[in-house]
This record gives sequence, C-alpha cells and structure tokens, in this order.
Amino acid sequence: MDDDDLERLREHLTTRRLGRVHEHHPSLGSTNDRALAWLANAPDGALVSADQQTAGRGRLGRSWSSPAGRDLYASVILRPGVPAAGFGALALAVGVGLREGLLGVFGGALGELALKWPNDLLLGGRKLAGILCESRWRGREVEVVVGFGINVHRQLDEFDPELRGSATSLAIVLGPELRRGRAIVLAGVLAGLERELERFFAAGFAGVRARYEPHCVVLGRAVEVEQPGGGRRVVAIAEGLDEDGALRVRPRSGGESFRVQSADVWLVEP
Ligand code: BTN
Repeated sequence: MDDDDLERLREHLTTRRLGRVHEHHPSLGSTNDRALAWLANAPDGALVSADQQTAGRGRLGRSWSSPAGRDLYASVILRPGVPAAGFGALALAVGVGLREGLLGVFGGALGELALKWPNDLLLGGRKLAGILCESRWRGREVEVVVGFGINVHRQLDEFDPELRGSATSLAIVLGPELRRGRAIVLAGVLAGLERELERFFAAGFAGVRARYEPHCVVLGRAVEVEQPGGGRRVVAIAEGLDEDGALRVRPRSGGESFRVQSADVWLVEP
C-alpha cells in the first residue's frame, strides 16, 4: 500500500481500538512475528501490515504464500486481560469478524461466504482467507496476536500449483466489481473484527455462536479427522460445537463421540 492507500485507510477507519496505531511495511518476514516482537510495547489494537511476507506462516506449521502487492497480510495485537472460560474459541470469533467485515464492504455481491471450522473463510467453496492466532502470557493476563491473510487481487495462475484447485480471491469472484482496493477492504475487516471481538470478550463463544453456526460448512456433514492422540484418521459426523468452540464428532462406523480442537478437518463428499 502506498501513501495514498494508507491515507485512505485512515479516512475509512471506523474502529475505536483496532488499527488506530499502525505500522505498515513494504516487506516483512511475517506480520505475526513482527507483532509478537512488538507485543511488550504495543498498545491494545495495534496493527502490523505488509505488502509482502517472505516467511508468512499458516496454521499447524505450514507456510502462507504472500507475494508482493496482491493480497492483505495483517496482524493485530489484543490485550483482553485475564481470559474467561471458552477463550479457546477466539479464532472462531475472528472468523466471524472477518466474514462480517467483508460482507460490510461487498454485501451480497460476494455470494456464499462460509466458515470452515475452525476458522478458514471459504468463498464458493474455495479458501479465501486464513487466520493465525497466537498468544503469550504476562503473569495471569494473556496477550494475543491475531493474524489474517485475505486473497484480494491474486489470479488463479499466481497461486502455487498445489493451491489452484482449492484457493480463490476477491478479484477472481468479483471481477471488475471488486473496485475497492486493499485499504478499504482492511478498514472494513477491522470494523467487523472489532465488533465481534467485543462480543466475544464480553460473553465468550456464546456471544458469537449465532453468527458462526449458520455459516459453518462442516456442521451436520461427514468429515475426516484424526483420532485423539494423533491416531489414525476416521470419518465422522460433525455433530456440533461445544461451549469452548471445540468440534464434537461421532465416528460414522459407531462408537463414542469425541472433541476435536484446532486440528485439520476435511469434508468428505456425500
Ligand atoms: C492458515 O490458514 O493456515 C492461516 C494463515 C494465516 C496467514 C496470515 S498472513 C498475516 C499473518 N502473518 C503470518 O505470518 N501469518 C498470518
């Protein structure tokens, strides 16, 4: 984002906390790493963004491809204090916040914008955005970095070949209707995120469940999951979400239901 984009972001920012202090970098290893390094001094709501990441990180130790000037790579710092029960569902609340923020910018033009548990955003069944939440303890209080990557301008042939069958971007889906640049998308997403996080910190997952469940593509479906303790994969029916956001599944072959927390789940075709 150039100086004009950053000015546009400031003009469109409606948040009270998120993004009011902002560091933007043309290139960084990872915005999450920079935010973690800044954690001790940064105010609540501080934002780190970059035009490019050279070591972008995804969930479960994966990398996040982050070419220059195409997409959004950003991390915000949160200081929620002493966490309430159910804090594990933070990532789900972030997914809802991004979803609501994107709908605020593009409305119905986006079509079906879904959440794949725990927190991927899917547009037309393909991955549009990913979220990486990381926390550190300071005494009894927790400090959190919420990182998100949203595919904005990338065309299909710009994705790594192994992602071309499963990824998408706003530009691919909206075409010329995209019109809005990354600064406006970021301002909208921060607004959605702030609203949703306020609800989450006040009421836990109960405060966001109503906006999560109807859009969660795995609920009621057959999914492949790893058995607890890193066991073999089983096909199970995703029955529901516990109070802390864990996914409760029941093996299709019978047996006790069990909880899945922050793992990979794969949808199984009916
Ligand atoms: C995933 O789906 O695996 C999560 C991807 C998270 C990517 C974002 S991009 C901005 C922030 N910085 C990182 O290094 N990762 C997150």
